[in-house]
Amino acid sequence: MAKVTSTKMFADAYKNGYAVGAFNVNNMEIIQGITAAATELHAPLILQVSKGARAYANHIYLMKLIEAAIEDAQQNAGFDLPICVHLDHGDSFELCKSCIDGGFTSVMIDGSSKPYEENIKLTRQVVEYAHDHGVVVEGELGTLAGIEDEVKVSAADSSYTRPEEVEDFVNRTGVDSLAIAIGTSHGAYKFTADQCTRNEKGQLVPPPLRFDILTEVEKRLPGFPIVLHGSSSVPQEFVQKINAYGGKMPDAVGIPEEQLREAAKMAVCKINIDSDLRLAMTASIREHFALNPDHFDPRQYLKPAREAIKAMVMHKMIDVLGCDHRA
Ligand code: G3H
Ligand code: 13P
Ligand code: ZN
Repeated sequence: MAKVTSTKMFADAYKNGYAVGAFNVNNMEIIQGITAAATELHAPLILQVSKGARAYANHIYLMKLIEAAIEDAQQNAGFDLPICVHLDHGDSFELCKSCIDGGFTSVMIDGSSKPYEENIKLTRQVVEYAHDHGVVVEGELGTLAGIEDEVKVSAADSSYTRPEEVEDFVNRTGVDSLAIAIGTSHGAYKFTADQCTRNEKGQLVPPPLRFDILTEVEKRLPGFPIVLHGSSSVPQEFVQKINAYGGKMPDAVGIPEEQLREAAKMAVCKINIDSDLRLAMTASIREHFALNPDHFDPRQYLKPAREAIKAMVMHKMIDVLGCDHRA
């Protein structure tokens, strides 16, 4: 199977109460770790590339690595791995056009920080070009807190999606999926200690997601695929390992996995995960260097890092997204 759009993936995910994982990719080991998990579990997959990832690794390298993963799954596992190649947080028509022209099957145009009418106008422009080229589009309404590339949104400047706007937005733009803000946040520090309570172990417990908003959106857009950004759960085992081996990530906190599982059973068909990949990789590399101070061959520490990514992604697919054996 070649690269695919997310259309069939989302239709099946909606019908069967699961979500497809959208994982951010920046280099070969990350792509290999994620695609090995999807191949072993026969899971549909979205690999997403941010503007920063494209600047870091170069469009053509990422594209060829993704194509290599599809070929590898076919040749070595006899599995037609369906991969949707998606632009994450596109911020201009030109960037979206360049990705569409360069072989992406899906793009996000993120006009969520713009006034409503401007968001509609920009999103509509991208949808027209994308649909003419067989590419699907994700739009966004509402603003998540956290950090995306150079954009840093404070909790005070973030805003939940207003359910009363979603039908108008979808009808006037023609988007194929919609990212909404219901309390998730980008990065490894999703909430300040003030926004959380603490459990008996003294760990931070974040405020619950706004399922009332999701329910209202679902009622207004029956059958329409919803996307959750900022959905890393920031596993404390990785944070503790990073801190134990010389790192400094105090009070890093994410979205509880049970809440993501609930959302996946509802209209949420795509769940974005980047920070957890970074944490899995960094925890593994820090541990490796601490335990093997004489190692200097990158293969020695990148091999276990790639394995750590694979294990983390398999856990997400089985226990959180519910997308294993759905491809
Ligand atoms: O939402 C943002 C993603 O985590 C991508 O991060 O822009 O640093 O590549 P990045
Ligand atoms: P996390 O930072 O929670 O992994 O979110 C990633 C994301 O939303 C990418 O668009
Ligand atoms: Zn995001």
